[in-house]
Amino acid sequence: MPNQLSRCFPLPKIRQAEQFTLADSANGKRIEQWINLYAQDVNNWEPSEQHALAHLIPLLLCGEQSAQLVFNQEINRLFLQNEKDNEVMIKSLLEVEADEFRHDQALQTVLKQLPNIEGKRHIQRQAKRFYAKLGRGDGRCQHFIKIATLDSCVTQLMHEFEHSLLGPKHPFALLCGLIKKDEAKHVYVAKHYAQALGATTAMFKQDQRSVSDLLHQLLATQAEHFDFLGVDLNKIFNTLEEKWQ
Ligand SMILES: [Fe+2]
Ligand SMILES: [Fe+2]
Repeated sequence: MPNQLSRCFPLPKIRQAEQFTLADSANGKRIEQWINLYAQDVNNWEPSEQHALAHLIPLLLCGEQSAQLVFNQEINRLFLQNEKDNEVMIKSLLEVEADEFRHDQALQTVLKQLPNIEGKRHIQRQAKRFYAKLGRGDGRCQHFIKIATLDSCVTQLMHEFEHSLLGPKHPFALLCGLIKKDEAKHVYVAKHYAQALGATTAMFKQDQRSVSDLLHQLLATQAEHFDFLGVDLNKIFNTLEEKWQ
């Protein structure tokens, strides 16, 4: 039976800014090629790797789906303001949304072929709770500070998968390398957007610690599977903390 998992967050339905054409994304093309080349071969990966990834991908997917919604809402809001000045920002937010959609597609295609594991809905529920809580009660500025922080964490996490025990040529390591490039760009976009909304260095410092602590707690629920693949969560979060000091 294929590994089916309902979405953590629905696909955005309202698309206000459809008339904007986006420049071709070279990295996006690479991810699409990755899906065509590798995504159907997941059954050939080592069973132990499949087992570990079946526990970890639901955590990653939830973040991709939550990000699509957040960026979509912001794009719609800016679009409805109908101000010429917003166009550049709308385009960069649209690019991020499109990247997240591709990450979502690639990870979903992989997950569908991984074995069904006990407790996957529980893993998904924990992730969903984390992402839903993240944006609750914040102003937009603070929300984007948190997104920039979160994407810094994801960039680091993808780097560790890329250099994990899977080996540098493993298809999943290659995919993580591609996602990493996009996420590093998202950090830049979200950070600048937060700054445009009034974020200060002190505000960033305040949220970085709390967001990364919470994400660490969420990921640590699957620590044994990260460990199995040689992805060291403590190293990731210590590196981030040093960077932010
Ligand atoms: Fe992403
Ligand atoms: Fe992102």
